[in-house]
Parts: sequence; C-alpha cells; structure tokens
Amino acid sequence: MKITLLALVLVIVLSTNSLLGAASPAPEQVVDITGKKVRSGVNYYIVPASNPYAGIAVTVAKINQTCPLNVVAGDYSNGPLPLHFLPVNQKKDVIRVNTDLNIHFTELGDECPDSPVWMINKDYDPSWDAQNFVTLGGELGNPGKETVLDWFKIEKQEDAYKLFYCPNVYYESYGCSGIGISEDEFGNKRLALTNVPYKVLFKLA
Ligand SMILES: *[C@@H]1O[C@H](CO)[C@@H](O)[C@H](O)[C@H]1NC(C)=O
Repeated sequence: MKITLLALVLVIVLSTNSLLGAASPAPEQVVDITGKKVRSGVNYYIVPASNPYAGIAVTVAKINQTCPLNVVAGDYSNGPLPLHFLPVNQKKDVIRVNTDLNIHFTELGDECPDSPVWMINKDYDPSWDAQNFVTLGGELGNPGKETVLDWFKIEKQEDAYKLFYCPNVYYESYGCSGIGISEDEFGNKRLALTNVPYKVLFKLA
C-alpha cells in the first residue's frame, strides 16, 4: 500500500515537472508566403493576406507633405520597400510569434531625416479613443523604457498573421493593440493601433 502511494506521488511529481517543462515551449516560427521560415536580417515585403499579389504592400508616405514618414499600405509605384525583422534577442536567427521585435525598412531614401525603424507616434496615447499611428524614427535594440514605442510583435490571425503592439521590454504596461488600417483625410491607408487587424503575409524580397 505504502509503495503504491509512493509510486503515485512519484508519478504525480514527475508528470507535474514535465508539464511545467512543457509549459513554455518556444513560440511558433513565423513562415513566409511559401511556407519557409522568416529569418532575422533578411529582406521581406509585408503584403495583404486578402490579395497578396495585388501590387499592394506596406510602404511609407509623407502625410500632408510633412516628416516623419508614416507606415502605410499602398500601391508601390516605385517598387515595394523591403524591410527586416530583428528579434529582441539579436542572436536569434528565426522570427517567432508573440516575440518583441524591431521592424525597419532597408532601402529608404533620405526624404526625411528620421531613422527607418518603425515606432508608434511619439505622442502615443493609450486611451482607447486616441488615434495612434505607426511612424518612423525608432531605435534598433536597446530594449527598455526609452524604446518602448519601438517594439512590435507578429501574431497568427486565422490562416495569416497580424502585427501587434504589446511590448514586453519594459515592466510598465503600455497596453496591447492590434495594428490595422486607418484611412486619413488625404487617402493614406495608415497603419494604426486598432482592434480590427490588417491580415498580412510575408514575401521574400
Ligand atoms: C496640410 O498642410 C497645410 C500646409 O502646411 C495646412 O495648411 C493644412 O492645415 C494641413 N492639413 C491638415 C489636415 O493637417
């Protein structure tokens, strides 16, 4: 009887341990439109999942002729702009869902002086009725309070992905929001914090 009980306790302890061990597997790897792993420091285009071959991609636009450039979904008359994903742990070669990362354009002209690194607008306001946009001028790496507006995540969205703002690089909560499209008065389809996500796919550039 005692041996049975001991065995039972042992089984429970062992299975609890293995459950704990299994409770934090690395998040799923992000794949591109052809099913290949998306890699850090490689050029991609972000295209709409609804019509990935329509000649639309995430690019930049000057809003009312003023800097900084904003991140928009648009036609690319001058060719789409490639970008890199860089995970917070810069030693990681693959991109995983639900992981803080920087996104930056790699072939941006010098129309505006700001860095090509994505960030949420500097006057970010987490109240739900504020309009917050994805703009440029962020910093690569250096996770912490100073860069809390510069980190994005990729999440699964049905058979595609969505971009997400939900940084874990600083202990204070900055809230979480999906990234969708908000069309402004000039007709720019700006990437903005909204809970109606923009479903996207990644295409090797
Ligand atoms: C666009 O820029 C012009 C010129 O600076 C300015 O007069 C106008 O108010 C701006 N429009 C908006 C909607 O910001």
